[in-house]
Amino acid sequence: MARRKKTSSSLAASGVTVAFGGFKALTDVTLKITPGAVHGLIGPNGAGKTTMVNTLTGFQAPTTGTVTLGGRNVGTLPPHQLRRAGVARTFQAGRLFTGLDVLDNLAVTGVGLGHSRAASEAEALRLLDWMGVSHLAEQPAAGLPYTDERRVGIARALMFTPDFLLLDEPAAGMSEAEAADLAALIKRVAEELNIGVLLIEHNVGLVLAVSHHVYVLDAGQVIEEGDRALILASRKVRDAYLGADSEAA
Ligand SMILES: Nc1ncnc2c1ncn2[C@@H]1O[C@H](COP(=O)(O)OP(=O)(O)OP(=O)(O)O)[C@@H](O)[C@H]1O
Ligand SMILES: [Mg+2]
Repeated sequence: MARRKKTSSSLAASGVTVAFGGFKALTDVTLKITPGAVHGLIGPNGAGKTTMVNTLTGFQAPTTGTVTLGGRNVGTLPPHQLRRAGVARTFQAGRLFTGLDVLDNLAVTGVGLGHSRAASEAEALRLLDWMGVSHLAEQPAAGLPYTDERRVGIARALMFTPDFLLLDEPAAGMSEAEAADLAALIKRVAEELNIGVLLIEHNVGLVLAVSHHVYVLDAGQVIEEGDRALILASRKVRDAYLGADSEAA
């Protein structure tokens, strides 16, 4: 089966503001995701992380600013067109088709993208095998343990090799050990499949452990960006998480 040819060198937001009425969920956000690496996006509750993902995947049009894929302005494309262009995502709440088994959950995505049923099932099996969960293929999605459900959600997003994968809190509710396992998988996704990953997590340690570049959002603005050492040393980041009053504590 012909795999989608990789074409896009970056998925980027430039000066993006998203306003809901008079409230700005994002203000002048600029960030860039490149293939082959995990990029982290962290920030307190309500900082605008999910809004950023929605904006990079066509679920939310920017009020001002641009979203580009390989240099092309895609800020007004709907989600299904961005998906075809190589931008995949998972959602904060799983959203598997609970009436289908795991294999079909993946295969319907392939069919939806215009591939044959047989080719879609073959790709689904290949992906499940690559992730080490081929034993789940015939299990109903409805009864899956939490950690398997997340893996299947990622496998489904990986159908037909996106260039970019945006993960909104994939480790929510997991134990530290489960989250570490998932982090290792996310790193493999970026490095072995040459995908640009944007990882959103409240588990900051996990994000810092696997990301080569981290963006920190607070109240809709990027207050810091850089590598692990820079983020760990940042006073601004500490204040955003602990509150500016924490110095007094
Ligand atoms: N459709 C919408 N209409 C109005 N306000 C919205 C809408 N979507 C998000 N918001 C607001 O924008 C802000 C950012 O929300 P967002 O969900 O992006 O934050 P988040 O960083 O993902 O938070 P969390 O960590 O809780 O998932 C919040 O104040 C939220 O209430
Ligand atoms: Mg969110």
